[in-house]
Amino acid sequence: MAGGVIATGSGSEQDFPAKLTLQVFICTAIAAFGGLMFGYDIGISGGVTGMDDFLLKFFPNVYVKKNHAHENNYCKFDDEYLQLFTSSLYLAAIVASGGASLMCKKYGRKPTMQAASIFFFIGAILNVSAMNLPMLILGRLFLGAGVGCGNQAVPLFITEISPPKFRGGLNICFQLLITVGILVANCVNYFTSNIKNYGWRISLGGAAVPAVILLVGSFAIVETPTSLIERGKKEKGLKTLKRIRGVDDVQKEFEEMVRATEVANQIKHPFRELMKKPSIPPMICGTIIHVFQQFTGINVVMFYAPVLFQTMGFGSSASLLSAVITGTVNSLSTVIAIFTVDKAGRKKLLVFGALICMVAQCTIGVILKKYLTETSKVPNSIAKVVVLLICVYVNGFAWSWGPLGWLISSEVFPLETRTSGYFFAVATNMLCTFIIAQAFLSMLCHMRAYIYFFFAAWLIVMSIFVMAMLPETKGVPLDEMVERVWKKHWFWKSFFKSSDIERPKAMVQLEHQEKPNH
Ligand code: BGC
Repeated sequence: MAGGVIATGSGSEQDFPAKLTLQVFICTAIAAFGGLMFGYDIGISGGVTGMDDFLLKFFPNVYVKKNHAHENNYCKFDDEYLQLFTSSLYLAAIVASGGASLMCKKYGRKPTMQAASIFFFIGAILNVSAMNLPMLILGRLFLGAGVGCGNQAVPLFITEISPPKFRGGLNICFQLLITVGILVANCVNYFTSNIKNYGWRISLGGAAVPAVILLVGSFAIVETPTSLIERGKKEKGLKTLKRIRGVDDVQKEFEEMVRATEVANQIKHPFRELMKKPSIPPMICGTIIHVFQQFTGINVVMFYAPVLFQTMGFGSSASLLSAVITGTVNSLSTVIAIFTVDKAGRKKLLVFGALICMVAQCTIGVILKKYLTETSKVPNSIAKVVVLLICVYVNGFAWSWGPLGWLISSEVFPLETRTSGYFFAVATNMLCTFIIAQAFLSMLCHMRAYIYFFFAAWLIVMSIFVMAMLPETKGVPLDEMVERVWKKHWFWKSFFKSSDIERPKAMVQLEHQEKPNH
């Protein structure tokens, strides 16, 4: 890799020579294990909540309901504690990502990732040895703290170490490892479901593996130059920059970083800065994309696919196998995004992806409405068609709303509000994931097949938003986002009429300073 591709430029005026070095590649691969931790969690809970031994130990009521011949198909799994098992993690993640954004700024990205892996490891140990429900939920809270820290630090870390030209593709490695984590969890569940009594313990304990890899690996990775400079370690920042870029001529990029951190350091209260008028457009777009990402209904499939398949009448094992199939489609389809995102652009992928998801959701809704009554099973051939449609839906999501939610929110904020704004984006994602995880089984029970039309309706709303309100950010250098994107958008430009007055004086001065000649 080192000595391979030379990339130039983040800015139209600057050109920053850089190679895609082995160092950047290794650092990205190790950090992306934070995504694998997150993905493992998403995938594991749906499987274990379908396992009889697990239900018998922690949720005996659900076990009885599930095996009750006359129980309503749509309501078998409706239990608030079972939902709490899945969703408690996301509550902890919201709190933790707030702490993590401060930790990232004060101590750096690397220690925040290390904290993530330690929290995650403790959570896995608590879960593997859980004797009762409180212990199980406590474990989930620790896992949540790990996810919150990881989701805050990892995408930021990858974005900051990447040469600008490869930033999109490298950033999506985070999402790729999320999907790999989900897939690994689905496979683990498939095998452990046949292990009597303690299969679920192996599933939950498996979470310790990515945590250990991230922790051990973190000692081999660098701290980002931006974070070093931000914390006053300029010399070390320069040295690291040379190392990760694989070239000696990094002076321009280094000066740009120093300038950007000086501007950012003028802002004493980044959260207050976010409330100002010019911050509103990136704030709305950067956070709403996560609301929309969750209201595609993806986590209904990711958390509850095995449960859903059982609802249709599949046996436990067939249900878990179907989850492995959807997980494979998810991972493979994410690769498409890596190669298309910087060519087709963000908006096209989002709208086209939403269209595919919507058609699949509506067709599933129509089929289940016709075939899945409260007590009858869906005919086997029809159930297979539903699995296929779920694959189509997952494919549509995997190269659009999945990776782009994380990518767009990390690129729309100007530097001075990037970490604080990104915190809101992460917290919004976790909150909406919590809402879906907590409400879905009850919604399924009450709305039945109509639940699929509910998510399809959201997909229409979000497509309209993308077409009318979301600016295209493809190929726009991060530092020129305000000038070239927000100030040019038909609607958002009205927030910038008096932008120079609203922006802090020191920042305007720095922006207007002449750039060094090279
Ligand atoms: C989302 C998760 C989702 C996953 C599925 C991620 O981008 O944030 O909530 O489960 O994609 O691949």
